[in-house]
Amino acid sequence: MERKIRAVYFSPTHCTKKLTTKTAEKLSELFEAEMETMDLTLPEGRGREITLDNKDILVFGFPVYGGRIPLLLEPVIEKIKGSGNPVVIMAVYGNRDFDDAVLEARDIFTEKGFEVVSAGAFIGEHSYSKNVGTGRPDMTDIKEAEEFAVKTAEKIKTGSDGGILKVFGNKPYKERSAGIVAAPETKETCYDCMKCAKGCPVSAISFDNPRIADAEKCIHCCACVKICPVEAKYFDNEMMKNFTVMLETKFAEKKENTVFI
Ligand SMILES: Cc1cc2nc3c(=O)[nH]c(=O)nc-3n(C[C@H](O)[C@H](O)[C@H](O)COP(=O)(O)O)c2cc1C
Repeated sequence: MERKIRAVYFSPTHCTKKLTTKTAEKLSELFEAEMETMDLTLPEGRGREITLDNKDILVFGFPVYGGRIPLLLEPVIEKIKGSGNPVVIMAVYGNRDFDDAVLEARDIFTEKGFEVVSAGAFIGEHSYSKNVGTGRPDMTDIKEAEEFAVKTAEKIKTGSDGGILKVFGNKPYKERSAGIVAAPETKETCYDCMKCAKGCPVSAISFDNPRIADAEKCIHCCACVKICPVEAKYFDNEMMKNFTVMLETKFAEKKENTVFI
């Protein structure tokens, strides 16, 4: 069986997608192996079991939510099957902090019997604000993702030392923040293009009328806000607005990517 590079990611606003794809593409070039992509963002992408063949390398990308792996990915990761396959973790965060997300991912995949060979905590523009992590991943981030892939490939080719990858983070992991119940509002400029409904990872926006959204389902990923061609979608929730002000005040300064190899 030929080795494949399996890029698997959840990415509502596409930052994780860019970084995970670039890392996997470079690995595919270095191993002269085919690359296969599985996008877990939309509900239909999350139902299937993912089975890795013997030598396949998994590149697993997710955005950091509240310093953790997004809760909705827990059952999805359950469905990833393999035996001792190398895993590359790509955690993408919005220039605040990745807290315990990388550690959590390392632990989950290690417990599943995979070998976590490397992990990256890369920056993506914050889902809540264009002023935090603005424009990232940029050209430098993409270059760094490629360099990360080169070092990862060297490590895989050299062979495992059998040790568990050392990463930043604490256990018990950061508590998940109390759920905000809020749905996006819609300005009058909305012209029913349906991009928001089509791009919603939890089907919270009505296809009959995209102004109607289910606040109980909404995970505030801001896919709708960022995809709207006329910027008609926004959140009017006080907690989210205050949090955004805090992010823009305290976390505007550009952070560096962190890699663990
Ligand atoms: C609900 C939610 C929680 C988030 N929590 C964090 C966080 O704890 N730390 C951080 O730096 N960024 C946080 N972010 C920002 C995202 O991690 C960041 O914008 C990432 O690039 C989004 O990835 P995507 O473009 O693949 O959706 C959060 C975003 C959302 C929607």
